[in-house]
Amino acid sequence: MNLPENLPKAELHLHIEGTLEPELAFALAARNGVDLPFADTHELREAYRFGDLQSFLDLYYALMAVLRTADDFTELADAYLARAAAQGVRHAEVFFDPQAHTARGVPVGTVVEGLARALERAEERHGVTTRLIMCFLRDLPAESAMETLESVRPYLRHITGVGLDSAEVGHPPAKFREVYEAAGAMGLRKVAHAGEEGPPAYVREALDVLGVERVDHGLRAMEDPELVERLVRERVPLTLCPLSNVRLRAVDVLEDHPLRAMMDAGLMVTVNSDDPAYFGGYVGETFHAVREALGLTPDDLRRLARNSFEAAFLDDDEALRAR
Ligand code: HPA
Ligand code: ZN
Repeated sequence: MNLPENLPKAELHLHIEGTLEPELAFALAARNGVDLPFADTHELREAYRFGDLQSFLDLYYALMAVLRTADDFTELADAYLARAAAQGVRHAEVFFDPQAHTARGVPVGTVVEGLARALERAEERHGVTTRLIMCFLRDLPAESAMETLESVRPYLRHITGVGLDSAEVGHPPAKFREVYEAAGAMGLRKVAHAGEEGPPAYVREALDVLGVERVDHGLRAMEDPELVERLVRERVPLTLCPLSNVRLRAVDVLEDHPLRAMMDAGLMVTVNSDDPAYFGGYVGETFHAVREALGLTPDDLRRLARNSFEAAFLDDDEALRAR
């Protein structure tokens, strides 16, 4: 169906581990002999009531135990790409958390090669071009991030950029200055989560200390008018995830989400799903929900879609072909 929310778009803020649906989690658990602390998919879904970012992260990391082989990662990414394509996604920049897997004894090469297999055939299979972005877990030491960066050297042909995720407060971007310098020297693009639960100062630091080209979330930038002015002037893209913000209690209800105010302020915002298996919707559902809750017009939705291609790590001719 040609719904306005299904218009061609790019998804720029999507954690592949956050696309693990309960059904696939149980199937992989059975295949890999992993015991899940939930009786069935219903009981697991019941656990999806989060009080904040950390309460989500606890479940998100626990469920990853089912991902063990390269095939598991391929299957996970294939399922996401098929669903995203059906909702108008023509280009996806996919985050993954290497340290969450290596800490469980899954080699980084298994993760990257498994994901890359799905991503690299996605254009042919699903009509979706892709990029892969490795995120560092900011609540682990910077040394661990640096080791992780070094460990992917053999796989750099599959990786476009670096990001920063996990528990934000108390782990400011500056902690990763050297890691981002090294990533830049390796030719990698740079993004970071900032201003999801952390203060506007973290958004500034991500720009000034890490040199990021996009800010993931950036929601709390709205508390700082000078910062907003700068983000507008420099056309810094913010990858918003409205359903995530409601589920993790950054905003009370979708009707209160500042997306519309951010568009009105002239910010370069995009709409994304973050961890769709956990937050109640993929990007098409997210577009639908914000349209209903915030009264966005077809023009507003087209602007969001246009922004998503402009903010993507695509060459101009690739961006034109994708939309
Ligand atoms: N924030 C921080 N870390 C994350 C998120 C998020 O929304 N999703 C997965 N890891
Ligand atoms: Zn995120």
